[in-house]
Amino acid sequence: MYYYLYMDIKEAIKERHSVRQFKDLPVKSEDKEKLEVLIKECNAESGLNIQLVTDDPECFDTFLAHYGKFKNAKNYIAMIGSKSIDKLDQKCGYYGQKLVLVAQTLGLNTCWVAGTYGKGKCKADKNAGEKIVCVIALGYGESQGVAHKSKPVSKLCKVSEADLPATPAWFQEGLEAAILAPTALNQQKFQVSLDGDEAVITTKRGPMTQLDLGIVKYNFEAASGHKVR
Ligand SMILES: Cc1cc2nc3c(=O)[nH]c(=O)nc-3n(C[C@H](O)[C@H](O)[C@H](O)COP(=O)(O)O)c2cc1C
Repeated sequence: MYYYLYMDIKEAIKERHSVRQFKDLPVKSEDKEKLEVLIKECNAESGLNIQLVTDDPECFDTFLAHYGKFKNAKNYIAMIGSKSIDKLDQKCGYYGQKLVLVAQTLGLNTCWVAGTYGKGKCKADKNAGEKIVCVIALGYGESQGVAHKSKPVSKLCKVSEADLPATPAWFQEGLEAAILAPTALNQQKFQVSLDGDEAVITTKRGPMTQLDLGIVKYNFEAASGHKVR
C-alpha cells in the first residue's frame, strides 16, 4: 500500500499542468512500483482494467501526436474498461485523475490524451468487450507546464459570487480544485452547485464531457474531503 499525504494531493492539484515534452528518461523503478500498486487498487475498486505501459514510443509516433507537440512521450497509463461498465467514461476520468495526482507527487508530469495518439498502436492488453477510453502520457517533464485559462467562476458555479463566502470552507476548496481540473480542449463544460449540505457537479453534453466530469469530481473530492453527487 502506498500512502500519500492529503496535503500532497492538494498541492499536486495546484501544481499540475499538462506537459507534452518529456526528458529522455525511463520511469524510475520505485515510481513504477508505486503506480502499479495504486493501479491495482483502482482496478479492484472500479472494475476497470487500467494498465501502465512504459517504453512504448510508438503510441505517440503518429501525425496527430507530433501535431500535438509530444516529445519523448513513451510511457502512459491506458484507461481501459468493459463497455458494459455503468458510466465507463466518468469512472475512467475519476480514477485516472487519482493516478495523475499521485504521479505529480512523485515528480512525474502528465497529459490526458483522448485524441492525439495512435489508437491502434497502444500496447495495452484489451480483453474482449473492453474499450481503450483514453491514455495519460507520463514522464519527467522538460518543464512543469503552464496554468490553463479558466472561465469565470460565475459560469462554473451556480452559487452566486455574492453568496459564495457564506458557503462552507470545504465547498470553496472543492470549487477551487474543480476549476483547476484539466478538461478536454479546456472546455470546462461543468457546473458546481450546492444542494443543502451536498455538492453536485453536472455537465453540459458533448464529446469527452463525461470523462471531464469524472476528473472534475475527483479533484473536488480530493481537495474538499466531501463526496460529490
Ligand atoms: C479528457 C481529456 C482529453 C484530452 N485529450 C488531449 C489530446 O488528445 N491531446 C492533447 O494534446 N491534449 C489533450 N488533453 C489536454 C487538455 O488540452 C488540457 O488538459 C487542457 O487544455 C487544460 O490544461 P491543463 O491540463 O494544463 O490544466 C486532454 C484533456 C482531457 C481532460
